[in-house]
Amino acid sequence: MSNNIESHQVENRVFKPSKEFAKKARVSSMAEYKKLWKESVDKPTKFWAREAKELCWQKKWKEVLDWKAPHAKWFVGGELNVSESCVDQHAKGKRRNKAAIIFEGEPGDKRVITYAQLHREVCKWANVLIGQGVHPHDRVLIYMPMIPEAAFAMLACARIGAVHSVVFGGFSADSIADRLEDSGAEHIITADGGWRRGKIIPLKDNVDAAIKSNASIKSVIVVKRTEQKISMKKGRDHWFLDLEKDVSAKHEAQAFDSEHPLFILYTSGSTGKPKGILHTSGGYLTGAYTTCKYVFDMRDEDVYWCTADVGWITGHTYIVYGPLAMGVTQVMYEGAPNQPDFGRFWQMIEEYGVSIFYTAPTAIRAFIKAGDHFPEKHDLSSLRLLGSVGEPINPEAWMWYRDKIGGGRCPIVDTWWQTETGAIMITPLPGCTPTKPGTATLPFFGIDAAILDESGNEVGPDEGGRLVIRQPWPSMTRGIYGDKSRYKKAYWSDYKGIYTAGDGARRDEDGNFWIVGRLDDVLNVSGHRLGTAEVESALVAHDAVAEAAVVGKPHEIKGQAIVAFVTLKGDHEESPELLGELRNHVGNAIGSIAKPDELHFTPSLPKTRSGKIMRRLLKELVETGDISGNITTLEDFEVIANLKKKLGGK
Ligand code: WTA
Repeated sequence: MSNNIESHQVENRVFKPSKEFAKKARVSSMAEYKKLWKESVDKPTKFWAREAKELCWQKKWKEVLDWKAPHAKWFVGGELNVSESCVDQHAKGKRRNKAAIIFEGEPGDKRVITYAQLHREVCKWANVLIGQGVHPHDRVLIYMPMIPEAAFAMLACARIGAVHSVVFGGFSADSIADRLEDSGAEHIITADGGWRRGKIIPLKDNVDAAIKSNASIKSVIVVKRTEQKISMKKGRDHWFLDLEKDVSAKHEAQAFDSEHPLFILYTSGSTGKPKGILHTSGGYLTGAYTTCKYVFDMRDEDVYWCTADVGWITGHTYIVYGPLAMGVTQVMYEGAPNQPDFGRFWQMIEEYGVSIFYTAPTAIRAFIKAGDHFPEKHDLSSLRLLGSVGEPINPEAWMWYRDKIGGGRCPIVDTWWQTETGAIMITPLPGCTPTKPGTATLPFFGIDAAILDESGNEVGPDEGGRLVIRQPWPSMTRGIYGDKSRYKKAYWSDYKGIYTAGDGARRDEDGNFWIVGRLDDVLNVSGHRLGTAEVESALVAHDAVAEAAVVGKPHEIKGQAIVAFVTLKGDHEESPELLGELRNHVGNAIGSIAKPDELHFTPSLPKTRSGKIMRRLLKELVETGDISGNITTLEDFEVIANLKKKLGGK
């Protein structure tokens, strides 16, 4: 990602929203943005309370914020049921028969779910969960394809005060097992399978493998989707179709405390296993709702489509909670963007008249490669706003997105945020912010973002530093599930009372934030976070492996590719078969997104005198083919010379 800095520095193209867009937008001038932003960071509680009031509360809060760094409580004493804001208020009001979800499966099956139907489904799901003995605070693991039932299940958990933990359908049985153990979930919601690139992902089989020797699982609720044969354990596994027959489609939403846990979502850090990021109710929903309102400028007449999977934070905040709290109509798609070909998204935008489209740079780069003739075949004139998320967007991809998809008329919101931040933090506002290709521009309302050097001073224009947030915001994580000290250490130990995001960034002379990438050992592969430590520990868990080091390398489409260096135990020999086996081994341990793109055997790894693997050197080597700095501190610099030869470097 470091080579992006160069192109950023020469980026002078500025694109302002059209007068027509600005006129209709909620914030339509920079003067208004600046005034509102200043007010919102000077008096954050006033700003956020005003926004939170637009949600459904059964009991009003007594105090907006209780802040004892790094622990925040928002809307203290307030009580709400998150699903009431997302479902009941619309189903009982003027949006009753409005489409909430327009679903398209990969094979082409279609369903439209209105808000009234969504309400009935969520109530049924809530009653089914209660019937299975799920109580408030119980954790429920959800492992689903991208079908409406994933959203029903999440909202039903929220409705009964259970804590969902969604595991991305691309993760393996081992990953499910780890998350079950860490979260202590005893109930699982899954499907027989899901469609991806014309094939079935065997979700229920993966669940079976994950819980084979786990006696604490009380129930597995299975949605019928792909209809292949699966095994069902009597007494433990139930088809949702059978359970729903016995329940009512009515359920009264009981209020929970504003700080009641809503979900745990696992994400990679620089050390150890993925951490369970905890989010709570009132503050999280306020962040999701407010950003949908201002960043996507969502209106009743919009058709919104976020192409993320509900297994990631983007799917939580910008498919389930935010858009539904806004009462918008959204498109949901199950499968791959290139099924049957790279025209699928554009065909769907044309068919449903999508007006707001939110996707990831990695997808955009894949579309560029596939060719302009795919979008050119379709009428994309319904689009009015485009969004990007997950990784820095390179200016070339940004320009293509603007011209070929947005027809040169749609503003692009490049949104920076994280699983931990819960909602968008740095972003243009589409009706006012002048955008430049590659920058997420300016902080959202209430967000006091800055870039600091090591001693905690704000850096000057165009100087690099660490991206931080200096005051609490409602949708911030409340911690790492079951690990208080890791939360403090990971985010709050660089500077007192200040949140460190783990990203490097710089600001240009106009104050725009340019995110460079992670400063820690976290990779961003196709917009997904992966810890190098996770991949390494998967590798060393294999019998043949003595040691492993994993680094990222710039990749044309994925953003970063995974490069692994492996030393074998004495009694094992290098072979193409073993190489393939090790890659698959990582796929089985984590999921196919974690399979190393390159794997090199080496007799030893470069280490410091104290025995630490020098990943920095390996990274430089894979990026440039050489090592520029001093390597005399190396125990054995022969290692580098050999690796250089192996990688075909200078
Ligand atoms: C990166 C995804 C540049 C960043 C919502 C962050 C971005 C990590 C952007 C969080 C962006 C996300 N520009 N980098 N617009 N959006 N990132 O938790 O490194 O999956 O720390 O959340 O993705 O990834 P996560």
